[in-house]
Amino acid sequence: MTISTTNSDTDILWTDDFLIGISELDYEHRRVLEDINKLHQDLLAHADLDRVKTVLGRIHARLQAHFALEESVMLDRGYVNYSDHKDDHDQLLGEYTERMINYEKDPTLDNRKTMERTLRIWMVDHILTNDKKMSQMIEGGI
Ligand SMILES: [Fe+2]
Ligand SMILES: [Fe+2]
Repeated sequence: MTISTTNSDTDILWTDDFLIGISELDYEHRRVLEDINKLHQDLLAHADLDRVKTVLGRIHARLQAHFALEESVMLDRGYVNYSDHKDDHDQLLGEYTERMINYEKDPTLDNRKTMERTLRIWMVDHILTNDKKMSQMIEGGI
């Protein structure tokens, strides 16, 4: 499967390949990717900075809430790789926060691309690898 996340003119296309089989998490993954696409469209359309900041803040809040829910699912189900997976969440949130602040302070094209690249590549990759593996192990009783 090819999902283009680096082409700056392309939205992330939702396909069933993103489904991990835990419905509440699938629902949230879809919403997160939709917000990332919305941000992308706003940035391409040169929306004003206040509007972009609102979307950036919403993505931040959504990521925090999503990670918290996913971590509680992992804990409830006794997932053995919980702490590695949580570290990955913490790392993304930290990087995204830093790049978001950089962009808000200095909204250059370079800062925008760095921020978007982090968010788009990381989220797609994390869902397709870490989240999928987690769900397969949980559902397989590992
Ligand atoms: Fe995750
Ligand atoms: Fe997730």
